[in-house]
Amino acid sequence: MMLELDHIFKDYIQGKMTVPVLKDVTLHVDKGEYVAIMGPSGSGKTTLMNIIGCLDVPTSGSYTLNGNDLLHHKDKEMSRIRNRSIGFVFQSFNLLPRQSALDNVALPLLYAGVPGKERRERAVRALQKVGLEDRMNFKPTQLSGGQKQRVAIARAIVGEPDLLLADEPTGALDSASGRQVMELFEQLNKEGMTVIMITHDSEIAAHAKRTVLIRDGILTGAGSAAGALADGSQEREVSV
Ligand SMILES: Nc1ncnc2c1ncn2[C@@H]1O[C@H](COP(=O)(O)OP(=O)(O)OP(=O)(O)O)[C@@H](O)[C@H]1O
Ligand SMILES: [Mg+2]
Repeated sequence: MMLELDHIFKDYIQGKMTVPVLKDVTLHVDKGEYVAIMGPSGSGKTTLMNIIGCLDVPTSGSYTLNGNDLLHHKDKEMSRIRNRSIGFVFQSFNLLPRQSALDNVALPLLYAGVPGKERRERAVRALQKVGLEDRMNFKPTQLSGGQKQRVAIARAIVGEPDLLLADEPTGALDSASGRQVMELFEQLNKEGMTVIMITHDSEIAAHAKRTVLIRDGILTGAGSAAGALADGSQEREVSV
């Protein structure tokens, strides 16, 4: 098992109030899986993604990634594991506006201490993979939304992570660009990449091989996306 979250609780402290957000979430993901986490706004998807991505820690529960018990690491080790093992894709791309596509993609390698020539070669290869080698000298403002997201995907995969983690990757895109992003994810998954994608859109979730539903901080069901679509009651439940 690549990723094991067991009995995860997450509370936020808001003044004198404790707000429970994740309530006993257990999720196991095997290497090579493609999982969609689906649920309505406010259900705890981003909170869960931040924990999976080692950007935040749960209030209680256990989390192991590739056999590493993550919750007993120091911040520095956490960020090392995160940088080495996980590629992130966000709804809002999060590209540096004054840097070229190539420099944006190469940036994680700079942090990892990869020498300049190799950085450039690997960034070019990642851009080729997403079909944007002809845009490598363009800045984000000179790219369409779909192209920006493909640059962000190239940046996410350039360090050859074990896990690709995406939070609403098509949320800011028109349907044609969204389809391109889904095709890329499917291709990467076919090549062996483990993918976890967060979405509130059942059509997007249907691209994954397995969908889990989260509602009010509780993981309510696991099954195939096709099953969720075929079963009207289940679809109604998550499309609130
Ligand atoms: N830093 C925080 N402090 C207090 N409460 C928070 C914090 N972050 C999130 N929450 C609360 O946790 C709940 C879940 O938020 P989260 O961002 O995980 O939802 P989501 O499922 O990603 O929603 P969306 O689809 O709108 O992105 C919300 O009720 C939110 O108010
Ligand atoms: Mg969210």
